[in-house]
Amino acid sequence: MEHDTKAILLAGGTGTRLFPLTQVVSKQLQPVYDKPMIYYPITVLIAAGIRDILIISTPQDLPRFRALLQDGSQWGVSFTFREQAEPRGIAEALIIGADFIGSSAVVLMLGDNIFSGGDDFARALSTFECGATIFAYHVKDPSRYGVIEFDQAGNALSIEEKPVRPKSAYAIPGVYIYDNRALEIARAIRPSARGELEITEVNREYMARGQLQVRRLRRGFAWLDAGTSSALHEASVYVENIEKRQGVKIGCPEEAALISGFLSMEGFRALVATMPNCEYREYLTGVAEERSGRFFED
Ligand code: TTP
Repeated sequence: MEHDTKAILLAGGTGTRLFPLTQVVSKQLQPVYDKPMIYYPITVLIAAGIRDILIISTPQDLPRFRALLQDGSQWGVSFTFREQAEPRGIAEALIIGADFIGSSAVVLMLGDNIFSGGDDFARALSTFECGATIFAYHVKDPSRYGVIEFDQAGNALSIEEKPVRPKSAYAIPGVYIYDNRALEIARAIRPSARGELEITEVNREYMARGQLQVRRLRRGFAWLDAGTSSALHEASVYVENIEKRQGVKIGCPEEAALISGFLSMEGFRALVATMPNCEYREYLTGVAEERSGRFFED
């Protein structure tokens, strides 16, 4: 399924909690088991049928993202790159990306969020019409996150940042779907006490307008963040376990591009042929063989 929704992948920030790892390498370029972190959110976007992706990072790191990701044509997508001069908040991405977004809807995704286990985002996108859709994920320790309270119909009732007494067990992951009004909303908000344009303010404005829809991510769906060294390590272990057990990879943009129809089988095989001999190449070769055969399952 393909549509003209655009996506912004935010891969800046300071990564202070990962010091000293992040002294010379950005957080979103760190390995999560066998791939750079940013491969995971890119794979989610490709699997959701999004071709047009804006990557935002710091002036120091952006050249490395360009070198890694190129223009996207190798995966049948289009990457645009923009700098965020200072980490002035997640909502600033909507201002930096305004001309890229044009008059479209937009998916804003954080480059350090790792998801696996379902097509929840693709399904949310395919039914999205207007307003904003955010997601809710059941966690054991909601106080560490933005917490969302919602009714049976999925209408948001309250959003609280790191509450001492959370009103629900549902945290808000870093994926937001907005209609074009998000641009005007982002321009109108003012920096918070910590000097950032908070994405929560954008979501609260949609909530005040009665246009904030919440979709619960299903049980068994995995949302991992990789902001601390132990979370980063746990994410690697998680990916390794699933991949070793199932023999299928998480966060593989080439495979997602083949399944989404962004790459033909011929294009896919040609791309694999450019890779050095390694486990990743072997895996993709196996994917091509399996999908050319009679038995496969997405
Ligand atoms: P955070 O994890 O909140 O911040 P950080 O990555 O700078 O890390 P730390 O708290 O350890 O210093 O950011 C969440 C995501 O959003 C992450 O992928 C970085 C990105 N981000 C930006 O790109 N620009 C910004 O201005 C902010 C605040 C975050």
